[in-house]
Amino acid sequence: MVSWLLPFAAFVAIVAVIEGTKISSGGMCHPSDLKGLTSFRANVRVDTSGRLAKWTGIKCCEWEGISCDNSTGRVIEIRLPGFISTSDSPYQSQMKGLLSPYITLLRSLEVIDLGGLMDLSGAIPSSIGFDLPNLRKLYLCSNRITGQIPNSIGKLLKLEELVLFENRLSGTIPPSLGNLENLSSLLLYSNQLSGKLPNSLANLTSLVHIDIHGNYLAGDIPENVGRLQNLKELDLSNNLLSGKIPTSISNLTAISTLYLDANNLEGPIPNSLHEMPSLGFLRLQNNRLSGNIPPAFGNIASLQRVSLANNKLTGAIPPSIGYLSALTELYLDGNLLSGHIPRSIGHLSGLLVLNISYNAIQGQLPREMSSLQNLQILDLSFNRLNLSSIPTWFSQLSSLSKIYMAGCGIKGKFPRLLWMMPSLVQELDLSANHITGGLPSWLGSLTQLYLLNLSRNSLVSGIPETFASLSTLAILDLHSNKLTGSIECVLRSPTYIDLSDNRFSDGTEMIGLGAECGIRYLNLSNNSLEGRLPDSIASCILMKSFDVSSNELGFNLPVGLASISSLETLKLQRNRLTGNIPKDYLKLRKLRVLDLSDNLLVGEIPAGEPLSDFPESSFSGNKGLCGKPLPPCRF
Ligand SMILES: *[C@@H]1O[C@H](CO)[C@@H](O)[C@H](O)[C@H]1NC(C)=O
Ligand SMILES: *[C@@H]1O[C@H](CO)[C@@H](O)[C@H](O)[C@H]1NC(C)=O
Ligand SMILES: *[C@@H]1O[C@H](CO)[C@@H](O)[C@H](O)[C@H]1NC(C)=O
Ligand SMILES: *[C@@H]1O[C@H](CO)[C@@H](O)[C@H](O)[C@H]1NC(C)=O
Ligand SMILES: *[C@@H]1O[C@H](CO)[C@@H](O)[C@H](O)[C@H]1NC(C)=O
Ligand SMILES: *[C@@H]1O[C@H](CO)[C@@H](O)[C@H](O)[C@H]1NC(C)=O
Ligand SMILES: *[C@@H]1O[C@H](CO)[C@@H](O)[C@H](O)[C@H]1NC(C)=O
Ligand SMILES: *[C@@H]1O[C@H](CO)[C@@H](O)[C@H](O)[C@H]1NC(C)=O
Ligand SMILES: *[C@@H]1O[C@H](CO)[C@@H](O)[C@H](O)[C@H]1NC(C)=O
Repeated sequence: MVSWLLPFAAFVAIVAVIEGTKISSGGMCHPSDLKGLTSFRANVRVDTSGRLAKWTGIKCCEWEGISCDNSTGRVIEIRLPGFISTSDSPYQSQMKGLLSPYITLLRSLEVIDLGGLMDLSGAIPSSIGFDLPNLRKLYLCSNRITGQIPNSIGKLLKLEELVLFENRLSGTIPPSLGNLENLSSLLLYSNQLSGKLPNSLANLTSLVHIDIHGNYLAGDIPENVGRLQNLKELDLSNNLLSGKIPTSISNLTAISTLYLDANNLEGPIPNSLHEMPSLGFLRLQNNRLSGNIPPAFGNIASLQRVSLANNKLTGAIPPSIGYLSALTELYLDGNLLSGHIPRSIGHLSGLLVLNISYNAIQGQLPREMSSLQNLQILDLSFNRLNLSSIPTWFSQLSSLSKIYMAGCGIKGKFPRLLWMMPSLVQELDLSANHITGGLPSWLGSLTQLYLLNLSRNSLVSGIPETFASLSTLAILDLHSNKLTGSIECVLRSPTYIDLSDNRFSDGTEMIGLGAECGIRYLNLSNNSLEGRLPDSIASCILMKSFDVSSNELGFNLPVGLASISSLETLKLQRNRLTGNIPKDYLKLRKLRVLDLSDNLLVGEIPAGEPLSDFPESSFSGNKGLCGKPLPPCRF
């Protein structure tokens, strides 16, 4: 930063001399600007980036993060975004080595602490509005700025960009912002702002981007919002906004992105929406919108991605939908939509994703759907489709890789049609249907399979050995069928395995054997499993939940289990497990759910957390357990 600012300052000085203007050479700044910046610095409590420490002397135009106008010498920009350090983090070099093999592991971590967050803490001083009247851009995003946005911001009449996202600002948005006639970007997202959206914002006809998502804004969207004729992006998602979507919104003729999702909006989707000629991205999901999808919805020819999911929309999907020739993603799931899927849907040749799950849509599926040659993800689950079988034209859907048809009334043997699919199936959910017969061994040839959910059917067979070759399978859910035999060949690859409510009889001694155990969730409850739990289970170090309740397992509790420090849920009740509870189980510090009841365990429950914190019911019904929380042992 500093290295390019210096020649810049020299250039300013030369220009000043040549043009004979009144600016002082070398980035000297106007006394008022200096005062404003000094009081800004004084309000910053902590600056882990060290940038403000270098704000010394009076040449404020040379300071890091400050830009001045060449000709007037006045401060026009403050740019002090917080950032993640790229050089100082002690984790940096480790991360490089880690990233590729453990990328999936990292993705599922909830918090990655990179240690080197560089930012400012403090408040924006009210004096900013008085001392820096020439400011055009104020960038303080991704810091830890607290307090309110000062009302005096409304005095910065030249302000064009106010960029304060990802801070901890609270209070209301000051109505004085309505004075900033040249404001084009208002980016306040991810703060803790509350109160109503000020009506005065509608006076800011220069606004191009408004993004205030992720705050606590309440009340209505101002009815006069339609006056923002230059608005291209309006993101008010993830707030507490209520009331109806104002009909004037259709006056936003320049808008391309409209995100109002995750609020409490109610009432209908305005009929006039089709008058918005540039609308490309529309998100209204997770509200309480009711009524029909407007009949002329399909006239918004520019629409590319639409979500109306999780509302209370009723009626049929309007046939006009077929005119949306630019549409790539359509989410209508979680509404009360009924009727049939219109034939016109076949015209949506660019459609990649279609989710109409959880509605009351009826069959048959129109044959025209076979023209959806780019469709990759299709979710038809839980409607009133009553399909009986998967239509044969499915095999023409040449891009389909994620197929969700749960609760679609599919009957008979496992649909062989899926073997003929021209595409590589990655996710297949046929749960809650009436599929009978066995698991076909050709399923093992779906080598890209990542998720397989066949739960709640009537499948009777063993797991074909070919399943062992499903090396990318991560999620396997076969619960509530009548499957038998060994579970061994599915213990390798998946991280989520639910085989509960079946009739499996063996394979538990293989848990944790083999190259690497990546299992996080394993549910074998309510089967007929016999044999023992092996100490090799110790290698499943990522396991959070392990349930083998209601089986016929015998032998001692495996000591190896004690080294799974991530374990949160352990359910071994209703088996025939014998011996003592290993003392090492006291190492399971993350355990939240424990059930060892109804076994043949004996001896003292090892004293201490977490074991003695569980209720008696976690240990009841055994042959001879004693000690806290059960009555004391009598030796
Ligand atoms: C200010 O200086 C920059 C180069 O440093 C130049 O690109 C820009 O046009 C100048 N602006 C004015 C208003 O003179
Ligand atoms: C707003 O911008 C216009 C055009 O750049 C300019 O003429 C006007 O002076 C600006 N308004 C203020 C208050 O600076
Ligand atoms: C909008 O601007 C007009 C005049 O420019 C003014 O009369 C009105 O009070 C302003 N509205 C709000 C809500 O600030
Ligand atoms: C929307 O536009 C129409 C016609 O252009 C106009 O009559 C109406 O007043 C506008 N509404 C708002 C709120 O700007
Ligand atoms: C479709 O929508 C449902 C309900 O909102 C959701 O649970 C499901 O994950 C979505 N399907 C896909 C494939 O994303
Ligand atoms: C489902 O379809 C079958 C014929 O395919 C029919 O016999 C049955 O009554 C239908 N069930 C419902 C609930 O509509
Ligand atoms: C599999 O489908 C069932 C029923 O449709 C559902 O409850 C379950 O959560 C699904 N399993 C996974 C792992 O998504
Ligand atoms: C256990 O599985 C049987 C079928 O194997 C089923 O009938 C029963 O409801 C299941 N019990 C529980 C508690 O899920
Ligand atoms: C395991 O599956 C059974 C039956 O499907 C279910 O009742 C139980 O809650 C599951 N256990 C865990 C830990 O999720």
